Amino acid sequence: MTAQKHLVPPLAALRERRSAKWRSHPADVLPLPVAEMDFPLAEPIARVLREAIDRSDTGYAAPTRELAHALHGYARRAWGWTIDPDHVRTVTDVGIGIVETLRRLVSPGDGVALSPPVYEPFSWWIREVGAHPVEVPLATLPDGERRLDLNALEQAFAAPGTVAYLLCNPHNPLGLVHSRQELTALAELADRYGVHVLSDEIHAPLTLPGAAFVPYLSVSGAARHRGFAFHSASKGWNLAGLKAATVVTADPAPKRYVDRLSPHSLFRTGHLGVLATIAAFEEGDAWLAEIVSALDHNRRLLGELLTRHLPAVGYRPPRAGFLAWLDFRHFSGQSWGDDPAAHLLKTARVALTSGLGYGAEGRGFARLNFGCAPETLTEAVTRIAEPHAMLGS
Ligand SMILES: Cc1ncc(COP(=O)(O)O)c(C=O)c1O
Repeated sequence: MTAQKHLVPPLAALRERRSAKWRSHPADVLPLPVAEMDFPLAEPIARVLREAIDRSDTGYAAPTRELAHALHGYARRAWGWTIDPDHVRTVTDVGIGIVETLRRLVSPGDGVALSPPVYEPFSWWIREVGAHPVEVPLATLPDGERRLDLNALEQAFAAPGTVAYLLCNPHNPLGLVHSRQELTALAELADRYGVHVLSDEIHAPLTLPGAAFVPYLSVSGAARHRGFAFHSASKGWNLAGLKAATVVTADPAPKRYVDRLSPHSLFRTGHLGVLATIAAFEEGDAWLAEIVSALDHNRRLLGELLTRHLPAVGYRPPRAGFLAWLDFRHFSGQSWGDDPAAHLLKTARVALTSGLGYGAEGRGFARLNFGCAPETLTEAVTRIAEPHAMLGS
């Protein structure tokens, strides 16, 4: 997107922000870790929030169905998926939605499967409810592409004690967009072995050109029978700090578990988050289209920059989201150890997310957030490629 330059505030203005991304490092560090984007808020969302502030409208979230209807409208427009608004439950955020749903599904000691390398908090959430993570790494195809490993998932589902699977759809940090065929096969296996599937779809609005997001609950009756989907505007429209998300079901059986969530869950949700999320789903399409185009530009730019300055770094452009999973293992002559992010923070003053949080699969990897201006991306790769960073002085 050519106008993107003007879309992102200058670094000095971004450094005024008080969110985690901008307050976790000193000013000489270029921060590309935490999953926040640098783009300014969509105007319809900013307007709704300003109006609420002007009214001093900062109380509790109201028990209305507006958010459910807004998600219903968005899901139909974006993905041709029809949700029943009566099957949408408002929760504080996706993390709480997943933890509280899992709490109703698992007993202490049960296993919950996941496919590393995957969003680090998945394993924290599983442990938080007294279950243990059952790691079923993504398969690696002969061309290096990563996909769900359906054979290994079947073995994990068949094992005694595995009661649920945490699906990342689209997948963070690889930006994989799972196909209808894969999801249908997954649902069939889960149903066969009585395993519940919790599909985290938070990155879905940021599916990039060339890929088509498939909502898990849309693929089959088997998916609906044992499936839960988690949706939020917090990644797509950058609203993470406002705290509102949803749990969606499409069959009475999983809905019964969601009905058992605390009746207070609505009051634990941010009122401003609910207002902003409604605005995002109802009036945020144009802004989102611009951002998707900016991210599409950035994922290509990152590929070009790496080819030019750091050809030994492995990178597969993601098909969704603003995260790049960088493979630093084959730097000839470098000895950055298992944690290139720690090395680069010290020598290049660029903050990436360490791959180590993603388990054994993340050794030698780092995650880069390209939801920023192209200039920031260029500066980050240039800093990393500078001789002193390369040598580790
Ligand atoms: C896959 C995934 N799920 C959940 C979250 C966190 O969402 P929330 O802040 O709504 O808990 C993130 C944040 O980056 C994420 O990438």
